[in-house]
Amino acid sequence: MQNIKGSILSGYLNTIPNVPQVQLIGHGHLTNYHGIPDVTLKHGHHSSFHRTRIPPEEEQNPSNGVTPTRFFRWHMDAALYDLSPPKVTTLYGVRVPHGPKQVVWYGDQTGTGIGDELPVPLGTTAFVSGKTAFEILPPALKSVTIRARAKYAPKPFAWIKDAKAMSTGLGIVSEGLEKNFDELEDWDEAKVKTYPFLWKNRITGALHFMVHPCAISEIFIDPLPAQVTARDAHMYPDGAHITDLKEVRTLVHQMQRPAIAPNLVYPHDWNEKDLMVFHNRGVMHTVVGLFREDDLRVFHQCNLAATDEPTGPSEEDKLRILGA
Ligand SMILES: [Fe+2]
Repeated sequence: MQNIKGSILSGYLNTIPNVPQVQLIGHGHLTNYHGIPDVTLKHGHHSSFHRTRIPPEEEQNPSNGVTPTRFFRWHMDAALYDLSPPKVTTLYGVRVPHGPKQVVWYGDQTGTGIGDELPVPLGTTAFVSGKTAFEILPPALKSVTIRARAKYAPKPFAWIKDAKAMSTGLGIVSEGLEKNFDELEDWDEAKVKTYPFLWKNRITGALHFMVHPCAISEIFIDPLPAQVTARDAHMYPDGAHITDLKEVRTLVHQMQRPAIAPNLVYPHDWNEKDLMVFHNRGVMHTVVGLFREDDLRVFHQCNLAATDEPTGPSEEDKLRILGA
């Protein structure tokens, strides 16, 4: 299992002692729960992770009566170091607080404020499709995406422990707050992960844009194959190795932001005893919402590292997308 000590995940995950594959997540205080004598669960509030925050007075007394919130952190469940990304995540709603709808403020037009808006059920888990994320890209970005690989930082969630996220929860603000790699506890280059931007569904053949925007540190882009003649129409025709973190994040954000447009997000409206089984190599998801102090939310989460790695696009896929 993933060692999350000293990482951005350590405040949110509690292991159930007799079934350590299952994590207890949620919000509120529990006693004598499946062998855990006493625990206070913490639902991520964006102010703990984002560079900017919704003004507290607006959260407490919203001017139009609807509590504003944000996407906390878009991700797939994966350590992105040593272990292979789980294929499936299960989420089981044991206790689900009910309350009025809230509204996600994207806030990325000005860095703060409202921007795009999406009404969401209280405490939703929001999803977007990696397949759609790829398919809606313009040809120039599809060309980059299909040739690109993401190199993730060693122990990426410890690396960004002090860094802050964008208001959309879609990646990190580049302001130099990442740890230096040599400050991270003993890590091994052989365990560092590099994955294609596109993960191929082996059953449908579909290509899913699956890049963890917070964990990526470098991009490799292959040169165009010789069969492609109209080379000027493509970005990075001769390939590239992008190591400037700001440039890496700017490019990834340009590619991923269209996929979280309000009309493309599925915010699940949880009921108690809902069991969600989702394709963790095909969709991205995020925690959303603001709970009151006395709200109790109890969820079980289980995912297991896979025994194989994600597969990228085939040579035929590349030639088809590149129009060769
Ligand atoms: Fe997750």
